[in-house]
Amino acid sequence: MTTRVERVELEAILPLRALFLEEAHHQVRYNAVHERGWSDSYSLFIDGRNVGYGSIKGQEIKDRDTIFEFYLIPPFRGHASGLFPQLIAAARPAFIECQSNDPLLSAMLFEFARNISADVVLFEEHSVTHLAVPGVLVRRRRDSDPIFPHSAEPVGEYVAQLNGEVVATGGFLLHYNHPFADLYMEVREDCRGRGIGSFLLQEVKRECYLAGRIPAARTSIGNFASRACLNRAGLRMSGFMLKGQISA
Ligand SMILES: CC(C)(COP(=O)(O)OP(=O)(O)OC[C@H]1O[C@@H](n2cnc3c(N)ncnc32)[C@H](O)[C@@H]1OP(=O)(O)O)[C@@H](O)C(=O)NCCC(=O)NCCS
Repeated sequence: MTTRVERVELEAILPLRALFLEEAHHQVRYNAVHERGWSDSYSLFIDGRNVGYGSIKGQEIKDRDTIFEFYLIPPFRGHASGLFPQLIAAARPAFIECQSNDPLLSAMLFEFARNISADVVLFEEHSVTHLAVPGVLVRRRRDSDPIFPHSAEPVGEYVAQLNGEVVATGGFLLHYNHPFADLYMEVREDCRGRGIGSFLLQEVKRECYLAGRIPAARTSIGNFASRACLNRAGLRMSGFMLKGQISA
């Protein structure tokens, strides 16, 4: 059996990447890295047949030092531990970064990396909630709305209004793989802890579905308020972003 790893253009990996996304069926945090031209692509061959691919991005955009996707079609998956070191030899990355809900790359991470850590939690849609906060109305943002200064998140397309004032904004971004969308929200500091963030998220989730997208989200592990808020709005934890240093 002969194996080979070859640097290719992004277009060459797209047919197998479609299979990867189909199998994953969850949000892929770094999906847009490909679309924005921030990745290097490698095709993996066994006996001359293209059986998989690997993708490299940078911890900083300009670098290409991190394996963040690795896929083999199921009949050849047993060769993962043999092909992965060849991908490392070809691309010379320093890190592996993967989602814990991607079992193949997670297995490679634990086999070939050390100092493994997680800094981000991934969330998936779970249930429909029926939250309401008396006096709070959620609607689309208008150009004329005065918006409070945001410190963590962008100003969203949707706002929560209380006593005629905008006290929270949120929305969903489309940088994930279709059909998943990335929810975000920020509540004015003096209005936090009153159920407004989770109510807003619930309403944004509905708008997200109406736009033909499935809600998903991610947040820092240490952002307990965000995690609790996402839970209360009917999302649940689906994994972690794992990162490790490739062993010499
Ligand atoms: C995250 C944020 C939107 C939550 O908004 P909020 O209106 O305070 O949230 P809610 O009042 O709806 O609370 C929802 C849950 O979070 C919990 N919560 C709120 N603040 C919390 C805190 N500081 N620590 C721990 N839990 C907290 C509430 O107790 C509630 O949990 P419960 O269902 O178990 O009772 C708000 O803290 C915020 O704007 N943070 C800065 C921006 C940010 O981090 N956005 C998230 C990016 S993904």
